[in-house]
Amino acid sequence: MANKKSIHGEWSSRFAYILAATGSAVGLGNIWKFPYITGENGGGAFVIVYLACIVAIGIPIMIAESMMGRRGRQSPINTLETLSTEANANKNWHYLGWMGVSAGVLILSYYSVIAGWASAYVFKAIFGGFSSDAIVVKATFDDLLASPIQLVFWHTAFMVATMSVVMRGVNGGLEKAVRFFMPVLFALLVLLVGYAMTTGEAYFKGVRFLFSPDFSEIDSDAVLTAMGHAFFTLGLGMGAIMVYGSYLPKNVSIAKTSLYIAGADTVVALLAGIAIFPLVFANGLEPSAGPGLIFQSLPIAFGNMTGGWLFGILFFVLLVFAALTSAISLIEPLVAWLVENKGFTRTKASIVSGLCTWTLGVSVALSFNVWSGFKIFDKTIFDLLDYLTANLMLPIGGLCIAIFSGWIMHKKHVSAELDLPGFQFKVWGILIRYIAPGAVFLVLLDVIGVI
Ligand code: PHE
Repeated sequence: MANKKSIHGEWSSRFAYILAATGSAVGLGNIWKFPYITGENGGGAFVIVYLACIVAIGIPIMIAESMMGRRGRQSPINTLETLSTEANANKNWHYLGWMGVSAGVLILSYYSVIAGWASAYVFKAIFGGFSSDAIVVKATFDDLLASPIQLVFWHTAFMVATMSVVMRGVNGGLEKAVRFFMPVLFALLVLLVGYAMTTGEAYFKGVRFLFSPDFSEIDSDAVLTAMGHAFFTLGLGMGAIMVYGSYLPKNVSIAKTSLYIAGADTVVALLAGIAIFPLVFANGLEPSAGPGLIFQSLPIAFGNMTGGWLFGILFFVLLVFAALTSAISLIEPLVAWLVENKGFTRTKASIVSGLCTWTLGVSVALSFNVWSGFKIFDKTIFDLLDYLTANLMLPIGGLCIAIFSGWIMHKKHVSAELDLPGFQFKVWGILIRYIAPGAVFLVLLDVIGVI
């Protein structure tokens, strides 16, 4: 089995895989979500918990998930079926694949709406430029959210773009898209950090907010949010990295590439934080402004800086592309399954899965305006989907992946696939068998109030 190839194709090189997986990891999670949840949870202490989760839980599970993908060589659902047969384990493990596929659709339904905000900002940047006045900038954002037509329009545009990349398949679509955008996005973030440094005192205040911890701000919900975000930002627990792993050539080191990917993802998130919080403080904004944070702070910088018009356009274009390279990985598990099990062509599979996600996304778009009063468990549709996926489905998916690869798969299969020197394999083994599942389990118990 180990030498079998995926019917969907293979990455053309190790570098192509790193780019694609980094494309999946780096997205709205880093630039939109990380700053606002850090702001809502008091800053430094939250960042430390998040970083600890990346190292102790995220990286080991990323290694496990891509390893399972490469060994199974199919969509997550079929991969789990194959691997549980290989391990003589219960076939019900393939429901884990189903949970992942569902999480992907649920996440993409709101992800696309937020990516739609970024797309709308590309056009705002082109046709009006941005004001340097914080009040005007906030009003612009509020107007966008209040308009169901605009939100649904941009959500639709983003879904069409996503599905047309997915249709082209592994080499044609996914690889080409990331090769170009990732490096440019990185350069632009560095430029924004440079701008943040010009804000003087506010720069230090922003950096202090991000890095000096006050643990009294941390409660069990904050820990859950930090852990959930570690899964979200690395794209773990729902099969995205598993399906990408299934297109991975045999000779590539999974552990090493996982470290690169997690490292790049973390650097981008921290850069985004360093770019944004100084602006927040310099302009008297609230760090806890919520999902609108970057849309209410960054335009001020573009409004003020020389060349801001051009940089503003570039930034939002790149944000949309970063979102696009994540979006394609969110839907790929379902598309791969439809091709494998239903005999759909890639095109048909993309259209069907895109339509389902789009429909759900419309309800998310409406939850920011006409349906904002409609709440389940005191949450709007957007808040509910975000909580359900990032805080519950991904950690539970990750927990099951850790258990499956650490306890269910035969050790000789795992070690053949990972090909790590003895000591490193042992360290990974301890992390994946005890530390990662133990930590996820404890956090989940804590949140439901059992401990
Ligand atoms: N990692 C992506 C981001 O940070 C989102 C994502 C989640 C992608 C889950 C794939 C799977 O934006």
